[in-house]
Amino acid sequence: MEQKIYIETYGCQMNVNDSQVAASILVNEGCSITEDIHQADVILVNTCSVRDNAEKRVLGRLEVFHQEKKKRPNVIVGVMGCMAQRLREKLLENNNVDFSIGPDSYRSLPSVIKHISEGGEKLTETTLSKVETYADIDPVRVDSNGVTAFISIMRGCNNMCSYCIVPFTRGRERSRDPKSIEREAKQLVKEGFKEVTLLGQNVDSYLWTDPDNPTHTVNFAQLLELVALVNPKLRVRFQTSHPKDIRKGVLYTMAMYPNICPHIHLPVQSGSSRMLEKMNRKYTREEYLQKIQDIREILPDSAITTDIIAGFCSETDEDHKQTISLLKEVQYDSAFMFQYSQRPDTLAAKRYPDDVPEETKTARLNEIIALQNTISLAANKKCIGKTYEVLVEGTSKRSENQMIGRTPQNKVCVFDKKDCAPGDFVHVKVLSATSATLMGEIVKPRKYTQYDKNAYRL
Ligand code: SAH
Ligand code: SF4
Ligand code: F3S
Repeated sequence: MEQKIYIETYGCQMNVNDSQVAASILVNEGCSITEDIHQADVILVNTCSVRDNAEKRVLGRLEVFHQEKKKRPNVIVGVMGCMAQRLREKLLENNNVDFSIGPDSYRSLPSVIKHISEGGEKLTETTLSKVETYADIDPVRVDSNGVTAFISIMRGCNNMCSYCIVPFTRGRERSRDPKSIEREAKQLVKEGFKEVTLLGQNVDSYLWTDPDNPTHTVNFAQLLELVALVNPKLRVRFQTSHPKDIRKGVLYTMAMYPNICPHIHLPVQSGSSRMLEKMNRKYTREEYLQKIQDIREILPDSAITTDIIAGFCSETDEDHKQTISLLKEVQYDSAFMFQYSQRPDTLAAKRYPDDVPEETKTARLNEIIALQNTISLAANKKCIGKTYEVLVEGTSKRSENQMIGRTPQNKVCVFDKKDCAPGDFVHVKVLSATSATLMGEIVKPRKYTQYDKNAYRL
């Protein structure tokens, strides 16, 4: 196969990683990757179903791809990812799509593309697997900054939060062989990467059982340690933690290894125990707050971030107030905030009417966003005057002379270039802050790399 492949990716980091896996599978078959859609023989779009607007955006893109197909009728258009899994052949009917392929079927991409290019019928490949983890495939790091990379450690989700489509599009949870994860981390270090983020829908339930010796298991804390030991200057992050499953063992492992970054993304979704029960999150407000207290005690420097859903089924003003009060109590460093969007076939869609009026959802979301912005600003202002070790990721979009990087706490930091380059660790003193960004200056002009004996962490 010698086709030129163009891939566009929507949705979460898992999808970004999956696009790289798909690229790898196709490149191994002789295809090449192009960033120019007009050069492409095959246009792939990796899609997200988590909210209705995510799907709408993709449907809009399919229109654009259709225009390309009108000009060049031989172009093949394929839909990958969660929408492909959810809509299957329905996608083929109206959208001028040649094939849809679900998240567990990417090994079939070469044969599917071959079939279509030989004039075969449109088709759908959406069998979900209980075992596929793509453990042996090295993702081609397309669109990479060469500094930070994601490693998928597990796939699927068993949680069945009532609002969520992910268990339906991604299938059952399965953990990847830790040795293949370690190998991938080592390979990334060799290629010059300085930071890896371990990815899973619920990393705290990572559990690998050795098929040759079922008494030998590896849990998430052990995996984290294994990756932290790959190289002491390789930064290690992870997402997403689940409040019902995060254990102190993970927090102690983070405290023990200075290269595991002090940041925990701990989605709460709502501050109301009544809503949490309906969401099937399996923790109460009080249990969640206890986890926050554990984090603050064991990891006092850690940033904590979250996800919130406003306007879930039957949410009252009182429930909403509970979310507001929880935000005030926890003082998150930042949050992703969404308005509830009913997803077909989820438990909530079957059981509970989507009865909070649109205006109310929007008003509550706006109130949550406004409050969190002031909290994020206050949290960032606390950084002023402090110096952080920042991993330089690239040039700032606004100015060639400014660089962008992140603190260990995952805060975005902008500073004058001086003589640093992407991949350097520099010490940045924070001079000012907005709710989203820290602005500072390099206080230790000498740059060093992870191999420098004198490198230390603040
Ligand atoms: N596995 C992660 C994140 C999954 S999706 C977790 O358990 O938290 C990312 C976020 O999208 C969720 O945390 C939730 O806040 C939001 N989300 C999921 N389904 C949604 C829906 N139907 N409507 C609005 N937001 C949703
Ligand atoms: Fe969805 Fe819940 Fe699984 Fe997260 S844990 S992916 S919100 S079902
Ligand atoms: Fe990710 Fe969206 Fe699927 S959030 S798992 S791409 S539904």
